[in-house]
Amino acid sequence: MKFPKAIQTKLISAGRKKRYTQGSVNSVIQRASSLVFDTVDDKKEAAKNRTQGALFYGRRGTLTHFSLQDAMCELEGGAGCYLYPCGAAAVTNAILAFVKTGDHVLISEGAYEPTQEFANHVLNDLGVESSYFPALIGRYITKYIRPNTKVLFLEAPSSITMEVHDIPSIVKAAREINPDIVIMIDNTWSAGVLFKALEFDIDISIQAGTKYLVGHSDAMIGTAVANERCWAQLRERSYLMGQMCDADTAYVTARGLRTLGVRLMQHQKSSLKVAKWLAKHPNVERVNHPALSSCKGYQFFRRDFVGYSGLFSFILKERLSEAQLADFLDEFSLFSMAYSWGGFESLILAHQPEEIAQIRPVSGVNFEGTLIRLHIGLEDADDLIADLEAGLERINLNKNKMKALQSLI
Ligand SMILES: Cc1ncc(COP(=O)(O)O)c(C=O)c1O
Repeated sequence: MKFPKAIQTKLISAGRKKRYTQGSVNSVIQRASSLVFDTVDDKKEAAKNRTQGALFYGRRGTLTHFSLQDAMCELEGGAGCYLYPCGAAAVTNAILAFVKTGDHVLISEGAYEPTQEFANHVLNDLGVESSYFPALIGRYITKYIRPNTKVLFLEAPSSITMEVHDIPSIVKAAREINPDIVIMIDNTWSAGVLFKALEFDIDISIQAGTKYLVGHSDAMIGTAVANERCWAQLRERSYLMGQMCDADTAYVTARGLRTLGVRLMQHQKSSLKVAKWLAKHPNVERVNHPALSSCKGYQFFRRDFVGYSGLFSFILKERLSEAQLADFLDEFSLFSMAYSWGGFESLILAHQPEEIAQIRPVSGVNFEGTLIRLHIGLEDADDLIADLEAGLERINLNKNKMKALQSLI
């Protein structure tokens, strides 16, 4: 797919107003709790405009935050952007901003595991019901919507298994039943630029900016870009919950935006090369990369997204034993074993089918082999392929060793 040029250009200029940069290229880093008013009138004016970019109190933001917030609105087409200390805080506070006891939240079963846990425990304890819908449900979402459904929470591609929703069908059907339903998406995988959520009539696009926006695995932030209808409520409820991030983190996130375009293009190119190579490997059952037809919801992805990033998974033909897993995972030279993704470095994690089944409360899983999730970083793709080839070879060596041992018994 062709990465749209306009986004590349916007990523460079977004949020760089003179008020924020004050003569430099980047925004200033304004660290502040107290912001000083020279006169009583100035204080009144700041209070009046505290939600419109006036410097009022640190928790409402400083020039550094405003610069990033403006940039995010420009990139995602929103009326406002709230900043949180991490992605999980963005997800949970966005939901909390719109629900009360007795309401129902309908969540994709492909949602990131802690999002599901938040619903199962925190929302449940608050008397807010939650339930899950299959990621590929499309217009039949109507079967899952209840009279008290207040929030519809999407995530595409699904966490780990990578199914892609038919988002236009889901949104249309949901709005036909209840035009006021608040529709949110965890849009982290697309970095908010490969899928323009608000253009699809989604109200709030949430990101763990920790991943692609920051891009260097060294800071945590969450963003939620809202449309006009939802912005004031999201902003005021999040503010009351004490949500904020520090100015230095806002600064490094805005700096990350400047290289996001070139990073994403490289993640896209290399992840496709690695995915295609894996698809031909004899040990591999299926590759869940949204650019390949083997990924569920591939047709929706082709239609609605403008590019792909570096995170995908594949399923091995066999379930690896603990010993095989250790042989496979412990010896990589380029892939590190770590949570998170979206940085410049390649990462690898393994999940057994029953672990995934636990977080697919409606559909379960339809595979038996071990699932491997990769984040393809900015290393040379051929080097990454060589590292993976050696890893898969270690599994086969282990298997042959076991066979030889068994024949001796
Ligand atoms: C899809 C998705 N959403 C949200 C989060 C939470 O982000 P954070 O770790 O910044 O809280 C993650 C983290 O891995 C994620 O993968």
